Amino acid sequence: MTNEKPKQQIWGSRLSVPPDQLNIEFCAGRDVKSLPMADEVLFKYDIWTNLAHSKMLAKTGIISSEEQKALSDALLELFEKHESGEFKLDPEKEDVHINVEHYITQHKGVEAGKKIHSGRSRNDQVATDMRLYLRDQLIIVAENLSQLIEQVLNKAEKEKKSIMPGFTHYQPAMITTAGHWMTAWSQSLLRDIDRLTRNIDELNSSPLGAAASFGTSWAIDREYSSHLLGFEKVDENSLDCICSRGEYEAMIASNISMMMNHLGTISQDIILLSTPYYDMLHIDDRYVTGSSIMPQKRNPDFAEVIRSKAAYCHGTANSLLGILKGSMSGYNRDVQQSKYLIIDLFRECSTTPLILSDVCKTMVFQHESMEKLCQLGFMNAADVADWMAQTFNLAFRECYEVLSLAVKYSDEAGKLTHGALARAIKETGVSIDITVDDVNLLNTPSAVINRKRHTGGPAVESVEKMIKNQQDHLKKVVQGIDIIKEKIAEARNSCFKDGT
Ligand code: ARG
Repeated sequence: MTNEKPKQQIWGSRLSVPPDQLNIEFCAGRDVKSLPMADEVLFKYDIWTNLAHSKMLAKTGIISSEEQKALSDALLELFEKHESGEFKLDPEKEDVHINVEHYITQHKGVEAGKKIHSGRSRNDQVATDMRLYLRDQLIIVAENLSQLIEQVLNKAEKEKKSIMPGFTHYQPAMITTAGHWMTAWSQSLLRDIDRLTRNIDELNSSPLGAAASFGTSWAIDREYSSHLLGFEKVDENSLDCICSRGEYEAMIASNISMMMNHLGTISQDIILLSTPYYDMLHIDDRYVTGSSIMPQKRNPDFAEVIRSKAAYCHGTANSLLGILKGSMSGYNRDVQQSKYLIIDLFRECSTTPLILSDVCKTMVFQHESMEKLCQLGFMNAADVADWMAQTFNLAFRECYEVLSLAVKYSDEAGKLTHGALARAIKETGVSIDITVDDVNLLNTPSAVINRKRHTGGPAVESVEKMIKNQQDHLKKVVQGIDIIKEKIAEARNSCFKDGT
């Protein structure tokens, strides 16, 4: 095979399609990537906060509309310069806030720049920047997650009849379907997306105007600046506005940790089911990675990276909680570190659902092999006991005893035989009669599955209902996200318009 583009990696010749570049980058991680300054990430939010604050100062008469216009012009010019890469943060100037103020007053010589810090402090400024940043990042993660959930549900629909073994303790347990298995994944991810969108609501209030922690004598209008920033409300107590910094970060880190745990479980399922020993799943060539020594390799690196990113998140959540512990009320510089932690966490985890979404879309279940594996391990034993109890009006425990013996006597055959069952029935003294046809039916996986029709069970109808309910659930969440996004875009656009 001749590749048009020269390969970036030494492995992969054994694959039929070139590897997905996003996946290669995802797996390479920080091995070959450097990180920007934390406040570079906050730059655009700091401009927005400055614009909103200056507009509020003009509305309340603290500065004139001409002064405000000069400030807006300088801020918008700086924004453009930063976007184009012409302006970079100067490390000599401590942080983004000092950089911005310095640009307006020193570089542009705008007189009103000296007034822009009226009625505020860097403490409420950075708290505001962070809430704007967190709000945007939560939306990105929630949207990426919604893509994954959609993909999982699509696949579940296609695989709702695909019989496969279910495991407990990694051992054969009961027969299920791939559709049932995957709607378990999506149900857990829907809890995550609910939590993340609730977090958006919780932090969507404005700390701007809290100043250092204890308010200001300037006659500010906090409701107005809150509105300009697209917040739902003003965060009331000025001291708590500052003390709560880091709290949202910790809450988000813990909720993203839970999401990453779920993604880790999906990853672990994919890793195991795709080994030749399980042989239930084929990962598309685009999402496997090779080895620099073993040419035959098809490794699920993406899944391993996801598992370890989950551990990374747990550490971040812990550190964030630690930063907040035992601080005296008021601003403490400890919280500066919370920026680095949460920014890194988003950098590490935001795209994870997208990678899994592509993997899910392209993976192929090995139906023949899955069905074969359903014949091993006596996974219908409990179902047969249930059937006996229901059909002959017996106690479950009595039937369980019969099946324990029947499994023992069928050990050699590898699956339940009529002879073994009849012997077990006789030995336990139960007076019932089971036919060969009964046993054949009970040894048929699809028949076993179809008897589990209750809410949430693996019967095809139950899985269909789950898929529908989950799709409706997801649709509502996505509509909610769209409403928030629209509000944010509206506020942002009106604030970034020049003039007053
Ligand atoms: N860079 C600082 C931070 O992220 C800004 C606030 C500094 N405030 C102060 N009182 N030193 O927290």
